[in-house]
Amino acid sequence: MSTLKAVRGTRDLLPPDTALWSHVESTARRVFARYNFGEIRTPIFEDTQLFARGVGEDTDIVSKEMFTWEDRARAQSEKSQSLTLRPENTAGVVRAYIEHNLGDAGRLQKLYYIGPQFRRERPQRGRYRQFWQIGAEVIGAPSSGSESPLRDAEVLEMLASLLDELGIRNWSLTINSVGSANDRPRYIAALREALAPVKGQMCADCQRRADTNPLRVLDCKHPEDQPILATLPRISDYLDEASRTHFTSVLAALDACGVPYAVNPRLVRGLDYYTRTTFEFVIESNDGAETGLGSQNALLGGGRYDGLSEMLGGPRAPGIGFAIGEDRLILTLQAMQAQQPQEAGDRASQLYIHLADAYVAPLGEAQNAAALALARELRRQGMTVEVGDGSFRLKKSFEVANELARHIIILGEEELASGLYTVKSFASGEQKKVSGGGLALLLR
Ligand code: HAM
Repeated sequence: MSTLKAVRGTRDLLPPDTALWSHVESTARRVFARYNFGEIRTPIFEDTQLFARGVGEDTDIVSKEMFTWEDRARAQSEKSQSLTLRPENTAGVVRAYIEHNLGDAGRLQKLYYIGPQFRRERPQRGRYRQFWQIGAEVIGAPSSGSESPLRDAEVLEMLASLLDELGIRNWSLTINSVGSANDRPRYIAALREALAPVKGQMCADCQRRADTNPLRVLDCKHPEDQPILATLPRISDYLDEASRTHFTSVLAALDACGVPYAVNPRLVRGLDYYTRTTFEFVIESNDGAETGLGSQNALLGGGRYDGLSEMLGGPRAPGIGFAIGEDRLILTLQAMQAQQPQEAGDRASQLYIHLADAYVAPLGEAQNAAALALARELRRQGMTVEVGDGSFRLKKSFEVANELARHIIILGEEELASGLYTVKSFASGEQKKVSGGGLALLLR
């Protein structure tokens, strides 16, 4: 019979890698808590309309990459419905904001999420069909200060702090303003005009988008179209006074807190909801060293979405947020670890593997039950304990214990009778006889 495998573009995360995933997630939670963010968990699937309206029909995500199915009604009272596995989490968060009237309190909502997202992209290193994002959104009624450029700068400063705390130094932040709803019509008109004489030479997607949604032409990845894209008008030249002042204030606040950035007037990002500030963090290769990401060097992206709530039928609620590709963050950290010269004993700490405090080795099967009882006692005192098996030879117990734990506790007939355990520390090589009461002190 043929064996079944994980579906293309999905993968299993296994120990010891999952220890690194946990470390990244707990670091993110700790940093977000310092900025007073709370966690939100939205459903993994939503009404397809949420993404069509929020992310935009003409985006690659909605037009090509969603996992969508028609969910049949199971009862007369139900309607069949088109459902979609979430390709991103911002639309879901804003839907929840509207649904639960989170703006009513007049306070800014600061929400973060960690979870899987789904896009039917061509899988490659750093690009999967099920991938994880660590994201955050700041959203609220205008009276809560949600439009302030300080919010943009604070979110970016938080990201810089998170990456620093994870030990990632080779990031660079690219930032742009894509203008407000006010600026859009003038820019789109200029874009249409510039596209009219050249669109015939462009790819099929561009030809269609030049008519339906000219902004999306700027996402085109076809190499042949790039020289044409370079000649198109730049959105940054069409910002009104308010958008320009907003952007200048974001940059001034970044300067004040020492977050480095580069302005790229062509950064638009592939989702329709963005307004004003947009940004990406990419991982740079130091002296040609492997970044772990191959061509997928966008570690995270985000921006403002001042009109998204209204696009979803909600009240006016400007917001800004980001999502980090967690898979890419892990690949970056693993590449960094691989480049560091390391001592053998250092390996566990590099991989965030926590060795157990002790391995209890019963010398014979008659001591198995007592070994479990001793382990229970030590675990109750907060220690991490592995228990072997009395059928193992002593040599095998030592080998297994050395891989899993910092100490081995030998438990034979004699130890049980005397109440004195033989304990060996793998770090120092020292072996001692200790009473039950002294074990906790020795093991910590
Ligand atoms: P996005 O740029 O589509 O933005 O995705 C954010 C990040 O998710 C990317 O920079 C990348 O690291 C990761 N990512 C995207 N697709 C894949 C994939 N197929 N495999 C692995 N990683 C991937 C958003 O999703 C917006 N919701 C971000 C945001 C939040 N904007 C405002 N608030």
